[in-house]
Amino acid sequence: MTRLDNKIAIITGGANGIGKQIATRFAEEGAKVVLADFNGEALEASVNEFKEKGYAAHGVKVNVAVEEDINKMVDETIATFGRVDILVNCAGVLDLMQAAHNVEDDIWNRVMDINVGGIMRASRKVLPIYMEQKSGIIINLSSMAGVTGGRGGLTYTAAKHAVTGMTKNIGSHYGEFGIRCNAIAPAQVNTGLTTSIDGWDQFGLKQSTRGVATMNRPAEPIEIANIALFLASEESSYVNGVVLAADSGWSAY
Ligand SMILES: NC(=O)c1ccc[n+]([C@@H]2O[C@H](COP(=O)([O-])OP(=O)(O)OC[C@H]3O[C@@H](n4cnc5c(N)ncnc54)[C@H](O)[C@@H]3O)[C@@H](O)[C@H]2O)c1
Repeated sequence: MTRLDNKIAIITGGANGIGKQIATRFAEEGAKVVLADFNGEALEASVNEFKEKGYAAHGVKVNVAVEEDINKMVDETIATFGRVDILVNCAGVLDLMQAAHNVEDDIWNRVMDINVGGIMRASRKVLPIYMEQKSGIIINLSSMAGVTGGRGGLTYTAAKHAVTGMTKNIGSHYGEFGIRCNAIAPAQVNTGLTTSIDGWDQFGLKQSTRGVATMNRPAEPIEIANIALFLASEESSYVNGVVLAADSGWSAY
């Protein structure tokens, strides 16, 4: 008996980084996983890798900012595996650390559509299903920028605060239906998220990284995936509406 025996989990942003590690950890614990990502190449490679390891895995190419894609993601999950038990909203993008006076509308709209709208849309789709089956888990990727003020650009900070708010709102409204919604708020995690981006706002970058010297160390994706596993399993049955800081004490300083 494993911790997620036969559970069906959707992981957005599951083709890379934290999402892929979460999907791996879930599959190791007996879950059937649906990787949902808009990077088609990475998606195909990850799904093949999972299948080679003997995991039950399915890939759906989605842009979480698009309603029809979200609907397809959930409908295809049910058509493939019969139900959905866990939704991990991991897909997310950065905002070039743009400080308030440098925010560009297209960056604002893109980050809000993906980081906030994506979670709203996916939650809106699964919640009626969860209410009917009287169970279901949502795990959102917030960030240190979702619980503190000065550690990101304005848009990313606003978006991740919205993720924190949605997590608490859903946790509070739907607990009585056997549904739990929690979030993880990592500081820095060693993934490709920050390494592959040019064009940083130098003022925003300087201001946002002032406190980095007080951070113990960045996390490895597995350290975040193990938290997601706890939040997805029955071991956290009394945890709902919580945003768990994963920062090795950085925000406690
Ligand atoms: N890496 C960090 O330091 C860090 C820190 C705090 C929070 N987070 C959050 O964790 C989450 C995952 O970050 P990561 O570091 O694994 O990033 P990553 O770039 O390694 O992976 C993100 C994945 O999301 C996918 N994606 C992006 N936009 C999408 C969209 N519109 N539709 C579908 N898929 C989309 C990408 O293709 C990619 O596969 C994000 O929400 C991020 O904000 C990351």
